[in-house]
Amino acid sequence: MGKRITIAIQRKGRLFENSKNLLIKSGINFTTNGEKLLARSSNMNVDILLVRDDDIPSLVSKGVADLGIVGQNVLAEQSTSNRKITAKAILDLGFSKCRLAFAKPSNSKLRSLKNKTIATSYPGLVKNYLRKNSINAEIIKINGSVELTPYIGIADCICDLISSGATLEANNLIEFKSLMNSEAVLISSSNIKNISDINIIELVKRFEGVINAAESKYVMLNADTNSIKQICKLLPGADSPTIIPLQQKNKVAIHALCSEPVFWETMEKLKQNGASSILVMPVEKILN
Ligand code: PRP
Ligand code: ZN
Repeated sequence: MGKRITIAIQRKGRLFENSKNLLIKSGINFTTNGEKLLARSSNMNVDILLVRDDDIPSLVSKGVADLGIVGQNVLAEQSTSNRKITAKAILDLGFSKCRLAFAKPSNSKLRSLKNKTIATSYPGLVKNYLRKNSINAEIIKINGSVELTPYIGIADCICDLISSGATLEANNLIEFKSLMNSEAVLISSSNIKNISDINIIELVKRFEGVINAAESKYVMLNADTNSIKQICKLLPGADSPTIIPLQQKNKVAIHALCSEPVFWETMEKLKQNGASSILVMPVEKILN
């Protein structure tokens, strides 16, 4: 038995459900009750640390956790403002997508950030943005309820995370400039190439398998032999489809693993090109 692997994930909030699902789909069984700080996997040599997302980059940088799941926004902010944060993103996880953006009250006349006061929990990223664009403005660091600051005279506008946009809408704020897009990433204290623990490498491969599978679909359809070429061209991200003869003459079944999303539009196009009985099925795991 190798050494136990510790993974830090958010205890509650935007990242929690997706992070937990990723671990479970990767074969790590564990239960949480919302109170516990540590959950031990019942079937693998893995401990899960349940913490505030803001603490994850530092826990991983210090080596308290081997791996962590956190938003790119939090990692980027902490990396710009704290030298001790050395954790690196080693895998984009494709979930909890959001953006860091500037917003102002809907009745505000504000046209540029010049000489304005900006309230944000991301002072490092905002500072870099202002510097890069040669804008002179004041930044006020606020840890919570940033969206209220324009209404109590603290700031002209805010720079905050927007996911569904519900928080902005509830506070009568409108977005006017996006600073960065963000999604959840897997982080480690070193680059993926420098990870020597075979168990960690295997685990990262499993995560990758789950992430790739989430975007992939298995497509099965029937077609005339003379439309095989055209139909295969339309299958998004399919490597080498399987062609199986059908009992009916000049008819085949085409099966393909599509690594890109299969939209209704794609299916309609396939049909226009002679495909019938088109089935699109989810893929659970992929091991390449
Ligand atoms: C962000 C942000 C907003 C909310 C936006 O908080 O501060 O409050 O999410 O989401 P919405 O557009 O879907 O309404 P975050 O998840 O980072 O929580 P935290 O600040 O407590 O870490
Ligand atoms: Zn947070």
